[in-house]
Amino acid sequence: MDNALNNALLARCAQKYGTPLYVYDFHSITTQFQAFKNAFKARKSLICYALKANSNLSIINHLAKLGSGADCVSIGEVRRALLAGIPKYKIIYSGVGKRDDEICEALKSDILFLNVESAAELERIESIAKDLGVVARISVRVNPNIDAKTHPYISTGLHENKFGVDIQSAKQMYIFAKNSPHIEPIGIHFHIGSQLTDLEPIRQGAMKIAELTHSLLALKIDIKFFDVGGGVGIRYTDEREIPLYDYAQAILEALRGLDVTIICEPGRYIVGKSGVLVSKVLYEKHNGHKRFVIVDAAMNDLMRPALYNAVHTMRVVQRDNIVCAEDLCLSEGIKSHQSRADVVGAICESSDFLAKDIVLPPLAHSDIVAFENVGAYGYSMAHTYNTRPRAAEVGVQDDEDFLIKPMECFENMVADEIKALEQRHTGN
Ligand code: LLP
Repeated sequence: MDNALNNALLARCAQKYGTPLYVYDFHSITTQFQAFKNAFKARKSLICYALKANSNLSIINHLAKLGSGADCVSIGEVRRALLAGIPKYKIIYSGVGKRDDEICEALKSDILFLNVESAAELERIESIAKDLGVVARISVRVNPNIDAKTHPYISTGLHENKFGVDIQSAKQMYIFAKNSPHIEPIGIHFHIGSQLTDLEPIRQGAMKIAELTHSLLALKIDIKFFDVGGGVGIRYTDEREIPLYDYAQAILEALRGLDVTIICEPGRYIVGKSGVLVSKVLYEKHNGHKRFVIVDAAMNDLMRPALYNAVHTMRVVQRDNIVCAEDLCLSEGIKSHQSRADVVGAICESSDFLAKDIVLPPLAHSDIVAFENVGAYGYSMAHTYNTRPRAAEVGVQDDEDFLIKPMECFENMVADEIKALEQRHTGN
C-alpha cells in the first residue's frame, strides 16, 4: 500500500459517505509531486500536472499550492486549472483537435503556450491571433517515431499515431511561425505514451528532440521550453518503475549544452497511487462452476479494466461487519473456503468487470472491498452509462476526511433534459 488509506479509515468513509466512493490520500500526492520536482531541481523546470489524470478542483488546488503548473487538453481543463488557482503563466494546452472557440479563449486567457499538433492547426491559431490582435505563444508537438512499448491504446510516439508532426514538418512549422507577426514559437514538445516502464524510448526521444532544438536555435528560433510530456509509469502489479533519478538524468543528458526550461507533464505518477475505489458487495452467484462477486461499483466508475484489461488489486476492507487486518489474516476455517471469482458490476456488458479470476474468501451483502491505484484515470474517465450516477470523491489528509465531490444525483442528471422536454411541449 503506497498510501495511508488503511482499512479502518476506508470502512469509516464508506459508512459516512456511502459507496461506490473514491478516496484520495492528499499526502501521497504531495510526496509524488515533490519527488518529481526534486528530480529536476538542478535545472530550471516546471512540473505541469496533466489534469486529465484527475481533474477534481480540490486536487488541482492542492497541487497549485505546491507550485504545480497544468497540462490541459481542452478549454474545460484550462478553466479548471485557472479556477483551482494555477497561475496562467504555468498553464499549457495540448491536443490534436482544438476548436476555434477553444483556441480563442486560450489566447485571451494568456496562458504560457499552446502545443500545436499540425500545420493546419498552426494556421488556424495564426488567423485567430491576428483577429484578436495578440501574439500566440506556441510549441510544436513533435512525433519522434519511437515505440514507447506500452499498451497500444496509450502509445502516442509513432507516425501511425495521430499525435504530433514528424521532424521535417515541425521544422517547416517553426519557420512559418518565426516569420509570422502573430506567432511566437517558444517551446518544443514530445510525448511518446503513457504508463512507460522502459527508459530507453524516452532517452531516444529526448535525444532526437534535443537535436532538432539545436538546429532550430541555429535558425534563430528561440526555444526556451523543452517539454518532455508525461508518461512515467507506476506499479499496479509487478511492473518495473523507472527510477525518477534515472528519468531525469536521461533527459538532462540529452539537454547538455541547451539553456532551456524543462517542462514535465506527469499525471499518473502524481495521483495514481493516491486513490482507491471503495465498493460494497451486493451479491455472490455461481454460473455453473464460475463464481461472481457482484459489487456496487462498475465499469462506469472504473473503465480501465474494461478498456485496457488493466489490473487494479482488490482488497477486502470489511467482512461480516468486522474491519479486516491489512494483510487479511483469515482464520484457517475461512481460508479453506477461498476460491477464484470475477468481481463485476451491474452494467449490461460482459466487459463490465473490475477484477478477474482472483482468490477471495466468501463474501456477503454489505461487505466492503477496495480497488487500489485508481487515483489516475479512474474518476476522470467515469461516466453515467445505464443512468448510474458518478461516485462521490473524498480526500484524506492528516487522518481527516473531507468531501471533494458529492455523488451525482438523479435529479441533476436529468435536469437539462426535463427543461428541454418542457420547452418542446410548451413551445418556449
Ligand atoms: N501529456 C500528454 C500530451 C498526454 O497525452 C498525457 C496522457 C500526459 C501528458 C499524461 O500522461 P501520464 O503521465 O498520466 O502517463 N486513460 C489511460 C491513459 C491515457 C493517457 C493519455 N495521455 C489510462 O487509464 O491508462
